[in-house]
Amino acid sequence: MNDASRQQSWKIRTELPVEYEIVESHGLLNPDNPELLTIPGGGRGSGTRLVILDHSVDELYGAAVRAYFSENDVKVDYLTLPGSEENKSIERVLEVVNKLNEVGTNRLSSPPIVIGGGVVADVVGLAASLYRRGIPFVRVPTTLLGQVDVSVAAKSGINYGGYRNRLGAYTPPPRTLIDRSFLATVPDRQLRNGMGEIFKMALIKDLRLFELLEEYGAELIETRFQDPEPGGEGLPGTVADEVIGRAIAGMAEELQPNLWEKDLKRSVDYGHSFSPLVEMRALPELLHGEAVAMDCVFSALIAAGRGLIDGDQFERIVAVARRMGLEPSHPLFCDVALVLEGLADTVLHRDGMQNLPMLTTIGEVCFLNDVTEAEIERACDGMARLLGTDAGLPGRPVGADR
Ligand SMILES: NC(=O)c1ccc[n+]([C@@H]2O[C@H](COP(=O)([O-])OP(=O)(O)OC[C@H]3O[C@@H](n4cnc5c(N)ncnc54)[C@H](O)[C@@H]3O)[C@@H](O)[C@H]2O)c1
Ligand SMILES: [Zn+2]
Repeated sequence: MNDASRQQSWKIRTELPVEYEIVESHGLLNPDNPELLTIPGGGRGSGTRLVILDHSVDELYGAAVRAYFSENDVKVDYLTLPGSEENKSIERVLEVVNKLNEVGTNRLSSPPIVIGGGVVADVVGLAASLYRRGIPFVRVPTTLLGQVDVSVAAKSGINYGGYRNRLGAYTPPPRTLIDRSFLATVPDRQLRNGMGEIFKMALIKDLRLFELLEEYGAELIETRFQDPEPGGEGLPGTVADEVIGRAIAGMAEELQPNLWEKDLKRSVDYGHSFSPLVEMRALPELLHGEAVAMDCVFSALIAAGRGLIDGDQFERIVAVARRMGLEPSHPLFCDVALVLEGLADTVLHRDGMQNLPMLTTIGEVCFLNDVTEAEIERACDGMARLLGTDAGLPGRPVGADR
């Protein structure tokens, strides 16, 4: 009998239903609001809860958070972590793991709560996915980017070896809680950063959202997405609700059928094709959403170069970015070698294909797999023109800011 005929094999097939919720709740830190206490699946759970706070959130809301839990008689231990991209590191993940050990977190009934921006959400998300091979956690995003983008994400990631999100996992927290009153203290630049992702969502699938940005984008930043004083004048809170709501709904709609990214043609990757390497090389100068907005413009230049969108649409896109205080270009986007290197890594990420989402109009995309070096060079030239006073398309004057 030869060895091959003695071979045995077993196959295991199972299913993993995934369900997670994003709940908008005004006044999360009001001690009468039970949302923060409720553990996934209902009830208040048992054991000490670890609450991880972003350092700015701790400064601004730490007292309110502590009062909330003590008034509700919940045993809590706290860990404060710094935000910002440089801190999306393995060391921070291990810091969370060590704290979970110290606190004695239960496997299911005392899920940690992370309150902060996308950075701490990613760090804690990865720690939770590794801890005992995966425990649930609750996510409370406090930046605009966190509320419209990270809030829907199933994945977490940290930067490693000079690459963004090189290490990560797909383990969505069962509950994400959103309260836009946190945005009242978010610095302007961070709000614009979040607008970068909303801008992307508008471009790929939501003309109405694009028009809302065109009309109210600047004012939303000015008012920090807050309601006017009672009886006062100003942009009604319903505009902020609609913009945040449409961005979340659009993201959820795109992610749900392809949560595990088995299909590598993802329209939500728009703005994320050339930018990851640029963003890493520019660190800490560029924020994620800023780099994403530039990539949206870069990709629109390729689309305009192919005649997929017309010059007027291109100018409208640039004007909306500028109106929201998002620069359409950066010198690194004019560096052909760097952009090609970034694309090469993106092709690896997309398993050998470019799968470049490309606008066919504002609010719709197709996918390209045959973008040439010459087109990239032309787009880099366009980005160079946008750095100066000229428009990005050859032979076009600066578009009026309409
Ligand atoms: N997991 C995902 O799928 C996913 C999706 C999108 C983005 N992300 C990640 O999110 C990160 C960016 O997130 P971010 O923009 O929130 O950055 P961030 O977490 O660094 O927060 C930005 C800054 O705002 C401060 N801050 C947070 N909340 C505040 C508040 N309410 N008031 C005042 N200051 C506050 C933070 O301390 C920080 O200095 C990136 O690393 C990105 O990769 C992940
Ligand atoms: Zn992004």
